[in-house]
Amino acid sequence: MSVFDLYAACYDLLYRDKNYRAEADYVAALVRQSRPGATDVLELGCGTGGHAVELAGKSLRVHGVDLSPAMVERALARRSAAGSGLAAALRFEQGDVRCFRAGRTFDAVISLFHVMSYQATTPELLAAMATARAHLEPGGVFVFDSWYGPAVLSDRPRCVIKEVRDDRVSIVRRTTPTMQVNANLVDVHFDIEITAIESGEQRRVAEDHRMRYLFVPEVDHLLGASGFELVATRAWMSQAEPDDRSWYACFEARAL
Ligand SMILES: C[S@@+](CC[C@H](N)C(=O)[O-])C[C@H]1O[C@@H](n2cnc3c(N)ncnc32)[C@H](O)[C@@H]1O
Repeated sequence: MSVFDLYAACYDLLYRDKNYRAEADYVAALVRQSRPGATDVLELGCGTGGHAVELAGKSLRVHGVDLSPAMVERALARRSAAGSGLAAALRFEQGDVRCFRAGRTFDAVISLFHVMSYQATTPELLAAMATARAHLEPGGVFVFDSWYGPAVLSDRPRCVIKEVRDDRVSIVRRTTPTMQVNANLVDVHFDIEITAIESGEQRRVAEDHRMRYLFVPEVDHLLGASGFELVATRAWMSQAEPDDRSWYACFEARAL
């Protein structure tokens, strides 16, 4: 069982305040700016399908791929709940972004909420970029976000506690980050305590997520080596260039 299978159980509750609709608006606008008639999108690391469903509402067909069967299961449930109109535009399957091949091309490839940062080594990043390139014709667009190196180094990750609850469970997540400054990595340790509201039953889960923070020159180089040109780098959810306060950056690349 991958770390994400355990995580999937509490994922949507932990991130219920994340504005998937606004993020999908932002990404759809970037895609359409570059490919005005875009209809077909491959999403690498689709998670529980939060962006995909919103993008389907903007007349995009999304094929989502995720490593975690539990995440994909939740994405499929979200697809069923979305109704037949949207469901027809959505497809989700289990797959590894480092080697997945759909056997066809798309107008755009997207990878959101730090999926590329989960590709912690340079060979893994290159493999994921090769996957994106394999699914685009020349001129196709690849949009992804990541942890952004300059900001991670100037505003270092801290221990945080997040508490969320709904009518069934309450979750307390304690986050302890450890920097590996010579590898551009942060090892994020989560201690998650889940309590069933009615029975009081508790479950504790410990997880480790290794995150790579990226810098523009290396992204430019890796994209170039993968058959892309880096077109723009933005602070996430903005049109401005990222700086050392932008923890998340959004990269837009064009397939050569
Ligand atoms: C923080 S979640 C983001 C999920 C989704 N994009 C969202 O915005 O909610 C990171 C996701 O990346 C997926 N992931 C990480 N490495 C992967 C890989 N090598 N192949 C496919 N999915 C991967 C995880 O399973 C997880 O669902």
